[in-house]
Amino acid sequence: TRPLKVALLGCGVVGSEVTRIMTTQSHDLAERIGAPVELAGIAVRRPNRVRAGVPTELLTTDATALVKRGDLDVVIEVIGGIEPVRTLITTAFEHGASVVSANKALLAADGASLHAKAVEHGVDLYYEAAVAGAIPLIRPLRESLAGDKVNRVLGIVNGTTNFILDKMDSTGAGYSEALDEATALGYAEADPTADVEGFDAAAKAAILAGIAFHTRVTIDDVHREGLTEVTAADIASARKMGCTVKLLAICERAADGRSVTARVHPAMIPLTHPLASVREAYNAVFVEAEAAGRLMFYGPGAGGAPTASAVLGDLVVACRNKLAGTTGAGESAYTRLPVSPMGDV
Ligand code: HSE
Repeated sequence: TRPLKVALLGCGVVGSEVTRIMTTQSHDLAERIGAPVELAGIAVRRPNRVRAGVPTELLTTDATALVKRGDLDVVIEVIGGIEPVRTLITTAFEHGASVVSANKALLAADGASLHAKAVEHGVDLYYEAAVAGAIPLIRPLRESLAGDKVNRVLGIVNGTTNFILDKMDSTGAGYSEALDEATALGYAEADPTADVEGFDAAAKAAILAGIAFHTRVTIDDVHREGLTEVTAADIASARKMGCTVKLLAICERAADGRSVTARVHPAMIPLTHPLASVREAYNAVFVEAEAAGRLMFYGPGAGGAPTASAVLGDLVVACRNKLAGTTGAGESAYTRLPVSPMGDV
């Protein structure tokens, strides 16, 4: 069988883990896919800054030339942000490559049109890593629950803010001390404002709501409040009331089924609630579906290795589809339910 060619865009915390696993587990990956996978190139901005173990002979600073090669089966995108990534992904589609992305900002801004472009070019777009790191959520919503009716998706989808709140609550650490620790552990975004102001969670809420309710939701549809107004005193008084503070993402279908809402804000949770026991950078998401009932997804929601696990799962599926000459989930399920940030209050 011919080897499948894969390019990697970005080689930071997640990208270097992807490279490491692709190299060390190449035999297992080939067996699971049914063909060997070859890393054809790695686009980075600063080649002299890559982590040890990344094969330097594959590095290039010309991401555009890499995605235009024309012989790529899959492009993995772990750069983040909207441009130039949107153009690079579109170019990859136009040159016949499927795309695996961890890019929540882009998917939350433009997911529907990217799906449409993938369908137009007969390739795949997968992004399990964009929401809640290693926890399978996109595929269960897109596939396992595709025959059910999801009414609510609720939970903790940002590891950095959960880590900060947990440290402040359990050790009495100050806000900036806790944030520095989350950054050092590789949980926070390049600009942690995205985490603490709730943009990261709002992007994830938009992606989850779109898939769960089969409608188009963008980050602009999500009501957003971050952590910056939460003080140590708030956390201490929550504790006195038998509660803790968590940053929650809540996506709901209206009772009449005719609209959906999505919001992100800090909330007081009773210590007896399962979400109260979600510690450090872990994430937990409840999905409520009509036939399935209440499901809980829980696990490491941030960090290089857990996020790389989700990327590699998508890579295996995209490669299998390439070999079989088929594509996975398309965009056609999108309906047009109206979306409002807070719903009817
Ligand atoms: N900064 C994100 C978080 C990384 O803290 O959850 C995972 O998306």
